[in-house]
Amino acid sequence: MTAESVRWGILATGGIAAAFTADLVDLPDAEVVAVASRREDTANAFAERFGIPRAYGDWESLARDENVDVVYVAGPHSTHRAAAGLCLANGRNVLCEKPFTLNVREAGELVALSREHDRFLMEAMWMYCNPVIRRLKALVEDGAVGELRTVQADFGLAGPFPPSHRLRDPAQGGGALLDLGVYPVSFAQLLLGEPTDVTARAVLSDEGVDLQTGALLSWDGGALASVHCSIIGGTSTTAYVTGSHGRIDIPNGFFHPDRFVLHRDGKEPEEFLADPADGPRNSFRHEAREVMRALRAGETESPLVPLDGTLAVMRTLDAIRDRIGVRYPGEDTTAELTPA
Ligand SMILES: NC(=O)c1ccc[n+]([C@@H]2O[C@H](COP(=O)([O-])OP(=O)(O)OC[C@H]3O[C@@H](n4cnc5c(N)ncnc54)[C@H](OP(=O)(O)O)[C@@H]3O)[C@@H](O)[C@H]2O)c1
Repeated sequence: MTAESVRWGILATGGIAAAFTADLVDLPDAEVVAVASRREDTANAFAERFGIPRAYGDWESLARDENVDVVYVAGPHSTHRAAAGLCLANGRNVLCEKPFTLNVREAGELVALSREHDRFLMEAMWMYCNPVIRRLKALVEDGAVGELRTVQADFGLAGPFPPSHRLRDPAQGGGALLDLGVYPVSFAQLLLGEPTDVTARAVLSDEGVDLQTGALLSWDGGALASVHCSIIGGTSTTAYVTGSHGRIDIPNGFFHPDRFVLHRDGKEPEEFLADPADGPRNSFRHEAREVMRALRAGETESPLVPLDGTLAVMRTLDAIRDRIGVRYPGEDTTAELTPA
């Protein structure tokens, strides 16, 4: 890594790989130097589209490329463990898309590999790097709404998604929970930490993935979080944080907000807005900048997206899946998904 630029490799060439790469190429201190796909022609097409010098038709060549500082892993969830593991084992630093893995066992294996090889590893939970979310978290920690009572958040897409779509495919870790529910769960845990108990109900598809899921998380201190996700109904994607002395409302798109409203009991509502200098609300540049800051500082994990927090979210997702009866191919039905 040079002081001036961090050299990125992109692993996979789908929707989010393209969106993230489009933001990366706009950052003056980032350089996208390589891309890997399962096929040479798709790697070449992606490389041509974004002006990337090296294109590989397999993952291993990228994992072994010593002129890559960090690999962005952007395949379906079911591939994260294998792809990120290959990169870490070959000495690459890794930013891995959400959900981090299929289950906490896989997540723990990646964390262990990053420690064994002394490499940086972070879940691409861009919400945690969003400046508006960071401000909200700081206000809550300062007691702006008093003691936390409830968190509510939802993320549902109308679809419809055909059975061939990755969101409906058990082999790709399909379903609403892992793809969308990870945001409301991560939001609740950003503010409250890991819950002490989890209950959940879901509607499953014929293929056995969750079409919609509602979960209630609870904490020993008395706080509750109600989270909902769906791939069969477009929701408002709002979030509410209620405390003993007020509440915070985040309008639609709570996972990449450009504003929120703080209602302190007995006071006029205060609106907090994103700084226009931070760029568009759907930008992935904040998480990319956080990765590059950490790499330059010699850190192996980000304080904004700590690995313990990622593991705690994966435990909650496992617990919810245990309650709703969703298991993915290859998961051991007795050893995996034991209640949190
Ligand atoms: N942070 C965000 O806002 C955000 C948004 C959307 C998705 N995501 C996450 O990013 C990941 C990818 O989502 P996506 O929407 O980009 O999916 P996508 O459009 O279906 O692309 C996934 C890509 O993964 C590669 N791949 C590797 N193994 C595969 C396999 N066995 N089956 C199918 N594709 C395989 C393919 O690229 P090659 O053909 O090049 O191998 C494919 O194009 C998911 O984990 C998702 O949760 C994050």
